Amino acid sequence: MKIVSKSEADTKMAAEVFLFGFVKKFVGRGALVAGLSGDLGSGKTTFVKFIAESFGLPPIVQSPTFVIEKVYSLPSSLNAREFRRLIHIDAYRLKDAYELLALGWDDMVKDKENIIFVEWPENVREALPDDANFVRFSHIDDGARGIEWEEE
Ligand SMILES: Nc1ncnc2c1ncn2[C@@H]1O[C@H](COP(=O)(O)OP(=O)(O)OP(=O)(O)O)[C@@H](O)[C@H]1O
Ligand SMILES: [Mg+2]
Repeated sequence: MKIVSKSEADTKMAAEVFLFGFVKKFVGRGALVAGLSGDLGSGKTTFVKFIAESFGLPPIVQSPTFVIEKVYSLPSSLNAREFRRLIHIDAYRLKDAYELLALGWDDMVKDKENIIFVEWPENVREALPDDANFVRFSHIDDGARGIEWEEE
């Protein structure tokens, strides 16, 4: 899937398309993990904000850059799979996967009730599960962003 988003509303639609497609196909035994890569300001946090809204959370998701990790309890279930927590990690300031382990990553990633989005996944690549999915963001111009992911 390759989307040229010309507004935040387009990015919201992309987040919904990604979320529903991804959840429907996911068969892993642990958490559902998605890495979001792309330049500063390319729209990764904005995408997670809209994912949260799709789950019925109020529009409060902020960049976790200064706290690294944010955990939101989910009010509703999605499709057949019951997710209870949305976890948003910004690995921008992490030097390596060991720093992620210190946040309790092993337990987080084992828990199939978690849906986890990781910004700057390349910083913690070794910790990501084999079944992680990746979305790539690019800055096209002032209001336009590229959003791309592989579909199985
Ligand atoms: N089409 C678009 N989709 C998403 N965001 C857009 C779009 N056009 C402009 N923007 C703006 O681009 C910025 C994207 O910021 P955001 O924090 O989501 O980026 P980021 O990829 O998380 O950056 P960082 O790597 O610093 O965490 C926001 O200010 C948003 O309003
Ligand atoms: Mg961000």
